[in-house]
Amino acid sequence: MPPTAKTVPRHIAIIMDGNGRWAKTRGLPRIKGHEAGAQAVRECVEGCGDLKVQYLTLYAFSAENWQRPKSEVFALMRLLENFLKEKTPELVEKNVRLQAIGRLTDLPQSSQKQLHKTIEQTAGNNGLTLILALSYGGRLEIIDGIKSLLRAVELGHIDKGMIDVEMFSKHLYTRYYPDPDLLIRTSGEMRLSNFLLWQLSYTEMYVTPKLWPDFTKKDLFAAVEEFGQRQRRYGAVE
Ligand code: IPE
Ligand code: IPE
Ligand code: MG
Repeated sequence: MPPTAKTVPRHIAIIMDGNGRWAKTRGLPRIKGHEAGAQAVRECVEGCGDLKVQYLTLYAFSAENWQRPKSEVFALMRLLENFLKEKTPELVEKNVRLQAIGRLTDLPQSSQKQLHKTIEQTAGNNGLTLILALSYGGRLEIIDGIKSLLRAVELGHIDKGMIDVEMFSKHLYTRYYPDPDLLIRTSGEMRLSNFLLWQLSYTEMYVTPKLWPDFTKKDLFAAVEEFGQRQRRYGAVE
């Protein structure tokens, strides 16, 4: 049973980790783990739809993941393209709007093309907003945000005395979305790995030892259930 509406986070962010280990325990190549991970994405999107979550941000490829062997990077890019191509009709049908954050121009041309195609084809949907973080790095995003602010100051659009938390947020890739309420990381690692450094300031964290390809709707509901028990204080007193 999905948790009750009042405890549901508006925005869930997920560090989908453990695909490689999942494959390794089965004696399979790492890419098989990524393929299984893509299935878990489908299930998770569906679960968020059931729960009426408004935003789901998935860490799909980090700025640091380019350091992996070329063959793995290539396979991941192809998987992304195929996933988008194949799932676009389903996203449309389920009223999901696709968005992306990160240095998207670093992606291969064909991946960029498919990504923009899916973004366009789902632009009119008003259900779940699914945000893929691709070639995404939190520190790079902050640097890009600073550059964007400096440009606005140079052009005279803003005065530097006006810069505050809210304004800076409007110069980040995530400017159109609220900060995540719940961060889930699979595979048990207790780190952020350069994900949404600015936006996660007051996000509730949930780490599960389950590897990403094994993460089911039930696991998602368990995370949301636990989120409902948390007391968010934002540094204040009750
Ligand atoms: C997460 O799984 C997927 C990506 C980073 C693209 P990993 O590939 O990091 O899997 P592990 O951490 O090696 O098990
Ligand atoms: C974080 O996982 C990036 C994604 C899930 C896309 P990594 O596997 O790259 O992170 P580290 O290396 O364990 O910190
Ligand atoms: Mg990993």
